[in-house]
Amino acid sequence: MPMKAMDYRGPRRIRVADKPLPEIRHPEDAILRVLRSCICGSDLHLYHGMVPDTRVGTTFGHEFIGVVEDVGAAVTKIKPGDRVLVPFNIACGRCTFCKQGLFGNCHESNPMATAVSGFYGYAHIAGGYHGGQAEYVRVPYANVGPTIIPQDMDLDDALLLTDVLPTGYQAAEMGGIQRGDTVVVFGAGPVGIMAAKCAWLFGAGRVIVFDHVEYRLDFVRRYAPCEAYNFKSIPDPVLFIKQITDWLGADVCIDAVGADASGNAFHTVTGKRLLLQAGAATALQWAINSVKKGGIVSIVGVYGPTGNLVPIGNVVNKGITIRANQASVPRLLPRLIKHVQDGILSPKDIITHRFPLEEVANAYRIFSSKLDGCIKPVLIPG
Ligand SMILES: NC(=O)c1ccc[n+]([C@@H]2O[C@H](COP(=O)([O-])OP(=O)(O)OC[C@H]3O[C@@H](n4cnc5c(N)ncnc54)[C@H](O)[C@@H]3O)[C@@H](O)[C@H]2O)c1
Ligand SMILES: [Zn+2]
Ligand SMILES: [Zn+2]
Repeated sequence: MPMKAMDYRGPRRIRVADKPLPEIRHPEDAILRVLRSCICGSDLHLYHGMVPDTRVGTTFGHEFIGVVEDVGAAVTKIKPGDRVLVPFNIACGRCTFCKQGLFGNCHESNPMATAVSGFYGYAHIAGGYHGGQAEYVRVPYANVGPTIIPQDMDLDDALLLTDVLPTGYQAAEMGGIQRGDTVVVFGAGPVGIMAAKCAWLFGAGRVIVFDHVEYRLDFVRRYAPCEAYNFKSIPDPVLFIKQITDWLGADVCIDAVGADASGNAFHTVTGKRLLLQAGAATALQWAINSVKKGGIVSIVGVYGPTGNLVPIGNVVNKGITIRANQASVPRLLPRLIKHVQDGILSPKDIITHRFPLEEVANAYRIFSSKLDGCIKPVLIPG
C-alpha cells in the first residue's frame, strides 16, 4: 500500500508522490504515523540545491512527531500507540560520541561521513535516511531518540522540541554567555529567534538581532524581546555593531544563518550562484569581525562540507573562540521539556502557517521566499 510523501525532484522542484510504506528493517527500528512535521531552514539549503549529494526521490523532513505504529523486536522504550517526538539527530546511543552527549556526531548512524551523524530527510552526506514530511517514517535506533510526548504538552510545542528550540538553546549555550554580556544574533529565522530568546536564560544583558526581513525583525523584537536591525539599511553592519558597543564589539556572536546568507555580493556570486564555495558565509564573516577580542562566536548555521572564505586571520589575531555543532537534541530534551512545561519557553508561538501535506510545494515556496509573514510552517498529513 502506498503512502503520500514529499518528493525531491531537483533544486526548487518538489512534489507529493506515492511511495512505499516504510518497513522495519532492523530490530531497533520503529515505524511512525506522522501527526505533523515542519519545514526548516536546513531544508532550504537542500531545496536551493546547495548541499552535495541531495538525491532525486528523497523525502525531506527532520522535524516531526507521530504515533508509533510498529516496533522491532528489540525496541523497549516505546510501543504502538505512543505519541512521540523524534530528535532530528539519528544516534545509536552507544558509540564514543553518543556517550559524550554528542548525538549530532554519532559515529554509527552515518557511515558515509566522519563529521556529522545521520539526519532524517537530508542529503546522502547525512546518511541518506528518508524524512518525516510524509504519512509514515522509519525511525532507526528507536530506544534512543524518540521521546514520549508528556500528556500535558501541546503537540506544536512537542514538534518544535525536535530541532528548533534545542538548536537555538544550544547556540546560546555554546556562546558561553556571562551575566550582562552583549549577544548579537545573526538571523531572525526560527533558530535565530530561539537563540535570542534563550540568550536571556544564560544571563545576557543585551540581545541584538540582525536580519533583512522586516516582519521577522518585528516578531523577534516582541518575542525575545530584543533590539533588532535590518542590515540592508546599515552601510556596514560590523562598524555599526562596534559603534553600539563602545567600540569593543559584542561579547558573543551567534551565526543562525548558514550557507544561504545574503548581504555580500561577492559571497552571493561565488557561494550561491557559481557554487565555488560552500554557500555564502556572510553572517559568519560579520560574526568574526564584530565580536570583541577574546570573544566567542557560536555557529549553528549550516554550511556544506567544502570550503568557505572565512576571515581566519581575524580569528587568530583577535583570539576568538569558535564553537559550533549540530544541536545535540537528546542531550537537551529533559531540560527543555521542563522549561516548556514550566512556561519559561513557548516555542509553538513561532508557528505561522499550516498546510496539508499535499500542498508541500507551495509551503516550500512561501517559506523560502519569506512570503505572507511566514516564520515556521507546519505540514499536516492526511
Ligand atoms: N546546527 C543545527 O543543529 C541546526 C538545526 C536547525 C537549523 N540549523 C541551521 O540554522 C540556520 C537557520 O535556520 P532557520 O530555520 O532559522 O532558517 P531561515 O532560513 O528561516 O532563517 C534564516 C534567516 O537569516 C536571514 N539572513 C540572511 N542573510 C543574513 C545575514 N547576512 N545576516 C543576518 N541574517 C541573515 C534570513 O533573512 C532568514 O530570516 C540554517 O542554516 C539552518 O540550516 C542548524
Ligand atoms: Zn530543522
Ligand atoms: Zn552513536
